[in-house]
This record gives sequence, C-alpha cells and structure tokens, in this order.
Amino acid sequence: MRFLVTAGPTREFMDPVRFISNRSSGKMGYAIAEAARDRGHDVVLISGPVSLAAPTGVAMVPVVSADDMLKAVGGHLDASDVLVMAAAVADWRPARVSDQKLKKLHTSPELRLEATPDILQAVKPRKGKKVFIGFAAETSGLEEEALRKLVSKGLDMIVANDVSQSDAGFDVDTNRVVFITGAGASETLPLMSKRDVAERIVDWVAARGLAPGTCGRTPAPRFGNLAGWNERLAKQLDFIREIDKLKLVFRRTLLMDGTRFENDAEHSWHLAMMAILLKEHANVPGVDIARVVKMVLVHDLVEIDAGDTYCYDVSGNVGKADREREAATRLFGLLPEDEGGEIRALWEEFEARMSSEAKFAAALDRVQPLMHNYSTGGSIWRKHGVRCRQVLDRNRHVEEGSVVLWRFAQALIQDAVERGYLETEG
Ligand code: CTP
Repeated sequence: MRFLVTAGPTREFMDPVRFISNRSSGKMGYAIAEAARDRGHDVVLISGPVSLAAPTGVAMVPVVSADDMLKAVGGHLDASDVLVMAAAVADWRPARVSDQKLKKLHTSPELRLEATPDILQAVKPRKGKKVFIGFAAETSGLEEEALRKLVSKGLDMIVANDVSQSDAGFDVDTNRVVFITGAGASETLPLMSKRDVAERIVDWVAARGLAPGTCGRTPAPRFGNLAGWNERLAKQLDFIREIDKLKLVFRRTLLMDGTRFENDAEHSWHLAMMAILLKEHANVPGVDIARVVKMVLVHDLVEIDAGDTYCYDVSGNVGKADREREAATRLFGLLPEDEGGEIRALWEEFEARMSSEAKFAAALDRVQPLMHNYSTGGSIWRKHGVRCRQVLDRNRHVEEGSVVLWRFAQALIQDAVERGYLETEG
C-alpha cells in the first residue's frame, strides 16, 4: 500500500523571526512512517519542522506552514492509498505577515489571527475509497471530541489521545490512545511506545483487507473466469494469484541493509538462489537440486493462511502444525489434483526433514536468517532477547544437510557474540 503520513507541527510566521506553533515533536508521525515502511509499504512523509532524523527508505517532504502542508498533501494524495494525518497543524496564523522584523514598541503590537486551512476538510471530497486516519489531541472530553472530528472530517478512524497526561501525547516516547471508528466503536489501548501504537495503526489498516494497489479500485475478476473454457488452466491461474499473498506475509527478519522486514516470497526466492549456488556443499553429492529448489519455493506457502510465527516464540508455536496443515489443505486444494498433490508432498517432505533434499533445504532455511541477523548487527535477536544458546540449538540440524554450512554458521554465531550482536547469558 502507499502511505501518506504527516508529522510534526506547522509554523505560522508573523515576521521573518517569530512564529506561532505548538509542542508537537513529530515522534508519532515518524513512528507511523517507519512502521509502515518496515511492513513493506511505500511511504511519503510530509513533515513540519522537527529535530528528528529523516527515516531511511521513506520519501521526505519537508514543509513549514499549514498552507505548505496542504499543498504537499494535495499533491501526493492521488498516488496514495492511505492518509494518516498525525501532524499538529497550527489552527491559527497571523492575519498579516510582516516582511521586516517587527520592532519593539512602547505598546504591544496587536496580533490579529485568522484560521489556517483545515487540511482534512480540504481533501475530504477526494477521499473515495482511500483510508483516512486522523488524530485528536484533547485535554478534556476525549472520546466525544474525537468522535465529532471523526464524523465531521469524514475519517475511517481517529486516534484519540489525552495530552494532559505526562506520559502520553507531546514530545514523549509513549502514548495512551483510543482507536475510534464510529459511535460506540472504540478500542482503548494501554500505555505503550509510540512505535507500538504505530504498528497497531498499520495493522489496523492491513486488517481492513485492503490489498496493495487495489485501494480505490474495484477488485479485478479472478483469472479463472477468463479461462473458464479450460478448467485446469483456470485453477492454476487462480492459485498463482492466491500465492501473490505470500508477498504480504512479513517475517521478523530485516533485509540485510536493515531498511525493512523481509517478506516470505523474498525469503523463498533467496533460498532457491542459495540452493543453486551452494549445491556443492550439500552432504550428499548428487542431491537433486531441482527438487530442493521446488521445496524451498513451496515450503512457506502455508503461511499465507497460517501466518509467520517467530521461531523463538514458544506460545506462538503452539498449534502451529495444525494451522499449517489446514492451510495446506485449502491452498493446495485450489490446484488440479495432481499438481496439488505434488506440491503437498514436497511441503510434507520438507517438514519431515528425512530425505537428503529436505535436509539440505532445511539447512538453507536456517542459514539464510542467520546471515540477515548478522548483517543487521543482531538487532532482531536483541529486540527479542534471543541468546546464543537458543540460536545454536535451533540451528544445529544445519549439520544434517551440510557440514560445511554448519561450520560457517558456527563461525558466524561466534563472531556475532564477539561483536556484541548476540548475548550469551540471560
Ligand atoms: N487537522 C488538519 N488541518 C488542520 C487542523 C487539524 O488536517 N488545520 C487534522 C489533524 O492533523 C488531525 C485532525 O485534523 O488529524 C484533528 O486535529 P485537532 O487539532 O485535534 O482538531 P481541530 O480540527 O484542529 O480542532 P480543535 O483544535 O478545535 O480541537
């Protein structure tokens, strides 16, 4: 999806050195931009003046005043699926702007103010099927005020926060918010980091079931409808469309450059390339590499339904096998029987890790995330408190598929410990 996010305050100048603004730090909007980027979305971040570093992998549009922000939002809206207005737009501006610095007089100058444009109101007629999310920073009557803004600004959701509390709202790293989607439809979130709030917002958008790029458009008919004269081809084409969803399943592994999370389709492609390139290091000479390539390409398809479970997440792994079996039945059942059977057999072979092909495929599946974690300074290991012993235990079976790769994995883990990427003790 394409996210357009605004952040920070605006400044409304009265002369070349003085302005009206507010306490917004931009942290919430920047966290949303980063969370959306890490989920693989395209992000444009329109930011008022803040002292935060520009996030990598995000298109930055710096602005100063409410007028500038309105122009920037208007200019990027058509190319966006989601607008998140996290900016604290100044509501008033001096009615007259002096182009010379105002001089101190014996009497104070009279400051006449006028309203700035309301950006959400201005772009409301262009909403169509885009998702619009606003913020309501209130000091009293939180939910009533937020609901009023949700309705008047034509939003899909408003994130309400009580800025009178010291641990929420302006310039702190935490927030306590309520998601409001309609009268009587609200979800109160506990105190959490702005990054976690940001992830919940991005998840909320994803959970609405909007497919990337289809927002604002009527979903196209199934390919199978166009090939109805050939039932077999119709099933194959519909399956091909279904597995596009693997590109939406995000793993807990960052890309090697650390810019965002990797998706499952990218992971499978990487393993297929590794199988082709590293075949000489398989324990069994003459291992059937074509079968290994097929196996790694299908090994995660079930996650379209079952989702990705973090390997060190003990509770998340409970019931995983059942969820995946159900997913396999639905997904592979979409194909003509012979092909569905072949793919299911490859998936089961991979899971059982008995054949030499499956052992080599599983070794690659373990080594690749190690390479990602190492390349990103172990940030995901550290985030989840994963220890060296867990990494060694989980990856030990690399040896069954490739003694050479297991030696490499051990060297990598050892070096990660020495560099402080991975902790040894709890
Ligand atoms: N907003 C906007 N344009 C403005 C002011 C606010 O688009 N000129 C957006 C904000 O980015 C936010 C939402 O409207 O997503 C609500 O902002 P808020 O300041 O809480 O509400 P206001 O409409 O300005 O009303 P008030 O200040 O009276 O509470």
